[in-house]
Amino acid sequence: MWARAGLLAAALLLFSQGAQAIAGGIEAAPGEVPSIAVMFYETPYTGKRVWCGGTLIRPTVVLTAGHCVADGMDEMLAGVKVGVLRLDDPAAPLRNISRFIVHPDYYNSQADPDATTPGLDNDVALVLLDGPVEGVPLQRLADNSTEVEAGEALLAAGWGRVPGATAKTPNPNTLLTMELAAVDLQECKEWFAAFNQSRLGGADNLCAGSSAANGTCSGDSGGPLLLDGVQVGIVSHGLFGEAARDGAPGGCGSAGQLNAFASVAHFRPWIDGVLAAEGLL
Ligand SMILES: *[C@@H]1O[C@H](CO)[C@@H](O)[C@H](O)[C@H]1NC(C)=O
Ligand SMILES: *[C@@H]1O[C@H](CO)[C@@H](O)[C@H](O)[C@H]1NC(C)=O
Ligand SMILES: *[C@@H]1O[C@H](CO)[C@@H](O)[C@H](O)[C@H]1NC(C)=O
Ligand SMILES: *[C@@H]1O[C@H](CO)[C@@H](O)[C@H](O)[C@H]1NC(C)=O
Repeated sequence: MWARAGLLAAALLLFSQGAQAIAGGIEAAPGEVPSIAVMFYETPYTGKRVWCGGTLIRPTVVLTAGHCVADGMDEMLAGVKVGVLRLDDPAAPLRNISRFIVHPDYYNSQADPDATTPGLDNDVALVLLDGPVEGVPLQRLADNSTEVEAGEALLAAGWGRVPGATAKTPNPNTLLTMELAAVDLQECKEWFAAFNQSRLGGADNLCAGSSAANGTCSGDSGGPLLLDGVQVGIVSHGLFGEAARDGAPGGCGSAGQLNAFASVAHFRPWIDGVLAAEGLL
């Protein structure tokens, strides 16, 4: 059980090393992304590490990506800090997780030996904390009236890997944000298909990119993509495997790279359904 989870987690780690960082970002101002959450994982080999972000949507609930808590990642999950700007903020407690709920149709090709095309479907999950967070505003979520037009300016935020990161200091200490532009889904699918990675979903995905070397990378997964402060996306993935390596065309931090996000508006009925079932709507 542990070994199996460990293997999957190792595979995912490879993926997260390559495929998900805020490259090209700038330090967030205090209060700019007030509902941000950061997920810490611990292994005997790495110590405590940040591999994912999230957002506080109820005093006891953090919204994140499915692959941040599934496929053995949960075995390593050490806790969540909420509403922080700096990872080493001594005032921010590491909160304990009571359980998590992954979307029932979540799919990760990297945990599927029969997969032919890499991808993540329905990459969304809710993390339930063991007690309420006070003094942190709740993230406003997109609904079916929220329209994201191609070209619109969006803001991504995270502590993901940045250029020049080392194994010892893989994450920036201060939250980074960066501007990305929404990209038409069809265009995005074609971009992934050019790398033979065409498993991108339909309405469950949003896509964003930049003509600059702006993009998300490892450690940003689960974090927010915001439109005027409203969360429209959850950081999901870029290219998978070798194609994602630093310096590769389309890889982390390359100009013109596109990133896929889980669409919050699309998953809103599922999120609201879970909150209702928990008595938290
Ligand atoms: C989390 O759990 C540990 C171990 O039970 C406990 O020592 C710690 O105080 C808890 N943290 C919070 C923020 O409740
Ligand atoms: C939008 O969401 C509201 C609230 O959940 C729902 O009542 C309405 O039917 C939805 N509209 C569409 C077009 O899906
Ligand atoms: C890249 O992100 C930075 C930081 O937010 C921003 O200043 C810059 O305008 C972005 N570049 C593009 C082309 O969007
Ligand atoms: C995609 O697959 C085709 C057919 O197998 C191959 O010729 C091509 O080199 C591949 N392209 C990339 C970017 O891997």
